[in-house]
Amino acid sequence: MPSISNLALAGLLAAGQGASASLVGAIQLEKFIKQETPIALQAVLDNIGPDGIKVPGAGRGLVIASPSTSDPDYFFTWTRDAALTFRTLIDDFVFGNKALEPLINDYIYGQARLQTVSNPSGTLLPNGAGLGEPKYMKDGSRYNGNWGRPQRDGPPLRAISLIQYSNYLVSKGQKARVKDEIWPIIANDLAYVGQYWNSTGFDLWEEVNGASFFTTQAQYRSLVEGEALAKVLGLPCTACTEAPQVLCFLQSYWNGKFITANFIQGNHNRGGVDANTVLGPLVAFDPYAPCDSPSLQPCHPRMLANFKNFVDTFRDPALYPINKGIPQNKGIALGRYPEDIYYNGNPWYLITLGSAEYLYAAIASWEKSGGITITPTSLPFFKDLYPLARVGTFGKLHPAYYLIKGLVKTYADSFVAVSQKYTPKDGMMAEQFLKVEPFTPISARNLTWSFAAFVGMNHRRQGHLPPSWVPKNVKVPDVCVGTSVKGTYAPATQAGAPNVTIPCISNVLFQLNASTYYGENLYVVGNSPTLGSWDLETAYPLMSSRYTDERPLWFATIPLEMEEGVSTLRYKYARQQDCGQEWIVEEEERVLEVPACVKDGSEEVLAERDEAFNGPAGSPGGC
Ligand SMILES: *[C@@H]1O[C@H](CO)[C@@H](O)[C@H](O)[C@H]1NC(C)=O
Ligand SMILES: *[C@@H]1O[C@H](CO)[C@@H](O)[C@H](O)[C@H]1NC(C)=O
Ligand SMILES: *[C@@H]1O[C@H](CO)[C@@H](O)[C@H](O)[C@H]1NC(C)=O
Ligand SMILES: *[C@@H]1O[C@H](CO)[C@@H](O)[C@H](O)[C@H]1NC(C)=O
Repeated sequence: MPSISNLALAGLLAAGQGASASLVGAIQLEKFIKQETPIALQAVLDNIGPDGIKVPGAGRGLVIASPSTSDPDYFFTWTRDAALTFRTLIDDFVFGNKALEPLINDYIYGQARLQTVSNPSGTLLPNGAGLGEPKYMKDGSRYNGNWGRPQRDGPPLRAISLIQYSNYLVSKGQKARVKDEIWPIIANDLAYVGQYWNSTGFDLWEEVNGASFFTTQAQYRSLVEGEALAKVLGLPCTACTEAPQVLCFLQSYWNGKFITANFIQGNHNRGGVDANTVLGPLVAFDPYAPCDSPSLQPCHPRMLANFKNFVDTFRDPALYPINKGIPQNKGIALGRYPEDIYYNGNPWYLITLGSAEYLYAAIASWEKSGGITITPTSLPFFKDLYPLARVGTFGKLHPAYYLIKGLVKTYADSFVAVSQKYTPKDGMMAEQFLKVEPFTPISARNLTWSFAAFVGMNHRRQGHLPPSWVPKNVKVPDVCVGTSVKGTYAPATQAGAPNVTIPCISNVLFQLNASTYYGENLYVVGNSPTLGSWDLETAYPLMSSRYTDERPLWFATIPLEMEEGVSTLRYKYARQQDCGQEWIVEEEERVLEVPACVKDGSEEVLAERDEAFNGPAGSPGGC
C-alpha cells in the first residue's frame, strides 16, 4: 500500500490534469460572482416594502417572495422566506454593510404586527396558533385561500434571525432595547416552538403534512439560542426546556443511508430524498461545532453521506437531462426532490447555490477544528472527489488535508458555475430553470430567496462566518419522547404590534363532501366575522388534505367568533372556480346554534357538521 503522502501526490497530479481549461473557468467564475453579488443584493432590496421598487404596495419591512403576479402569483409575504432573507441581510449587516440597519428595523416592526393578525391558522391569543400561518397579503393582512397550513418553520426561523440581530445589539450595549422591543417577538415564536414542535405541520415546500427535518433542525437551534439570549437578558424561557427532546427527535430522521426528509401523514409517493436536508444544516451552521455534533452540521459524516445521496439522485439523466454526462466530481443542477411535479419538477437556483454554500460551510468547520476525519459513513462522499481517500483523521499538517480541502472547494465552485451557466445575462434569477432544453428560467421571476441564496453562498465562500451557537458537550437524551409545554403569548407592542385581546371562540368542525376538479376550492361564508360576514372575498377556506376518491372531503376546524348577542350561525358553502369564473354558492342557508364560546385557548371541538354540497358542480375555466 502506498503511503498517504504518495497518495496525496498522485491526487495532486490527477487534479492538475486539465488545469488550464479549468483556470479559464475559474477566472470566469470569479468575474461572475463579483458582478452578481451587488445585483443579487439589490434584487433582494427591490422586493422589500415599503420602498422596494418592484413591489408597490408592500407593507413596511415585508419581504415579497417575488414580484410575479401570475403564473405563478407570489406577490405575498411568507414568514419563512422573509426570515431566511433577513438571516442573510443581518449577516451582511454584521459583516459591515451598515446601510441595512433601517431595513432590519422595518423587519422587526413588520413581524411584530404580523404576529397579531388573526388568520385561518388561528390567532396569537391565547394559544399562539396563528403564528403557524405561512403567508400574508402584501400589506400584511390575512391571506384567505386554501393552503397547506400550519407551517411550523416560520416561527423558529424568525426567532433565529431576530436573535442574530439581538446578539449584535447586546454586544453593542443595547440590552435594554432588545429586552423591551425584540425579545417579546422572539418569546412568542419560542413559545410556539415549545408548544407545537411535536405537532404535525406542512413542510417548507408546503405540500406534505407531518414532521420535516428542516423544521426540526430550525426548531432546535431557536430553542438553544433562545435560552442563551434569555439568560443574558435575565429572563425565563420555559419553552427552551424542550430543546433536548427536539434534538432527540432530530436524530431519528437518519435511516442508516441518508436523512429521510419528512415523516409524512397519509398517502404519499415520496422516497424521502429532499433538499430540505441540505438547506437545514445551512440554517444550523456553527463553524465552531465539532463535525460529530448531534446538531448535524454540514460536515457531519451522516450529513455528507446524505449530501452525496441527494446530489447523486439528480445525476440520473432520465430524471434531469440537464445533468447528462457530468462526471461524479462536478456540481450539477439540483431540484427539490425527485418526485417533484411542480412546473414538471426542475432545478432551483437556491438549491444549487445552497449546495455550494453547504460545502463552503463544511470546509470552514474543518479549518476551525484543525482537520478532516473520514469515517466509513462519509468515505463514499470523499471518494467521489479523491478516489484514494481512506478512513482516518487528517490534521492540518497532513498533505491530504490540503488536497481534500482544495478538491471540496473546487467541487463547491462547480455548483456555483452551474448557476452561472443558467443565469441570464442581466443576472436576474427566477425560482427554477428547465431541466430540459432550452434550460431557460421558469416559474416565479426575480425570486427573493434565489437572490438571498446567492448572497448567503458568497458570504461562506468569502469566509464570512456566523457566530457559534451549539453548546459544548450537548447530550442527546437516551429516550425520545413527544412532549410540549403550553406557551404564553402577548403582542409585542413596544415594537409596534397592536394591543390585541383574547377573542371568545367556539371551535366547530366543518366537514363537507364535495367533488372538485384540480384548482377549485371550497369556502364557508356566513354571518360571523370569521366566515367573512357574508363577503365571499373573506370567507373561510376549507382544506382538501384528506380528500380521496372514496371520500371527497373538505374540512376545517373553525374558531368561530360571533357578533355580540348573536348565537345562531347562518352559513352556506361556496365553490371558488379556478379562473375567476363566478363563484357557485349554495341557494339555501344552513343554520347552527353555536355552543357558548370560551377564552381559554382550548382546541376542543364543541360542535361538528357533516354535510354534502347542495348545488351544481364546478367546471374548469381552461385558463
Ligand atoms: C425582474 O427584474 C427585471 C430586471 O430588474 C425586470 O426587468 C423585470 O420586469 C422583473 N420581473 C418582474 C416579474 O418583476
Ligand atoms: C413527536 O416526538 C416523538 C418522539 O421523538 C416522535 O416519535 C414523533 O414522530 C413526533 N411527532 C411529530 C409530529 O413531531
Ligand atoms: C393592552 O391591553 C391590556 C388589556 O386590555 C392592558 O392591560 C395593557 O395595559 C395594554 N397594553 C398596552 C401596551 O397598551
Ligand atoms: C360523505 O361521504 C362519506 C363517504 O362517501 C359518507 O360515508 C358520508 O355519509 C357522506 N356524508 C354526507 C353528509 O353525505
